[in-house]
Amino acid sequence: MSAPLYVALDTPDMDRAKAIAQRVRNHVGGIKLGLEFFMANGRHGVREMAEVGLPIFLDLKFHDIPNTVAKAIQALRPLEPAILTVHAAGGRAMLEDAKAAAPSGTKVVAVTMLTSLDDRDLVSIGLSPDPHEQVVRLAELAKSAGVDGIVCSGEEVAAAKKAWPHGFFVVPGVRPANGVIGDQKRVVTPRAALDAGASILVVGRPITQAEDPDQAARDIEATL
Ligand code: C5P
Repeated sequence: MSAPLYVALDTPDMDRAKAIAQRVRNHVGGIKLGLEFFMANGRHGVREMAEVGLPIFLDLKFHDIPNTVAKAIQALRPLEPAILTVHAAGGRAMLEDAKAAAPSGTKVVAVTMLTSLDDRDLVSIGLSPDPHEQVVRLAELAKSAGVDGIVCSGEEVAAAKKAWPHGFFVVPGVRPANGVIGDQKRVVTPRAALDAGASILVVGRPITQAEDPDQAARDIEATL
């Protein structure tokens, strides 16, 4: 996978998603579609977005019993997504079966801890209050279960790469040096994330909410 910048099209609106994708297509390496888009537009919508001609990252974060996750991924096989996500907390068997069910060209990437959870949230679901400990444990599980990599922050990617040199690391929440940070807390620049070992970068609003999405994508591309 050569072009490392994926644009997150977090919208239920097909026309808007398509319009932005068409504008930025020459300056990004792929398109990330999440639950919001998928619930509104389904497989048909994904197929339509694939017509733009870029690899598709389907960020549906599966988390269920192994059989259900494997069957869900099998049902997506005809779409041949470049990347899809599962929750590492689904456990070893689920991760193994998810990888086995995916098309051979699809990277299966595990989400460790949602960054929306704080220490109190972790305790309230029965986990140790140290998110770092949890991330390290789940990253090791993902690696040993045979999935391709993990989603991690720009701050975590260097340590993750050291522990898993051939892992595939998806880094969201990156922000251009001059960009608006918004609700993302610990942000790094796209260049810094790549230097630290990111395989791909996920950028949403700095491109999609820009007055000129094409120029915004071009500006980020120029730093890579
Ligand atoms: O608009 P923004 O660049 O913040 O979008 C980042 C994308 O990455 C969103 O689709 C968001 O759901 C996703 N993401 C994230 N932080 C994580 C995991 C995923 O921002 N820890």
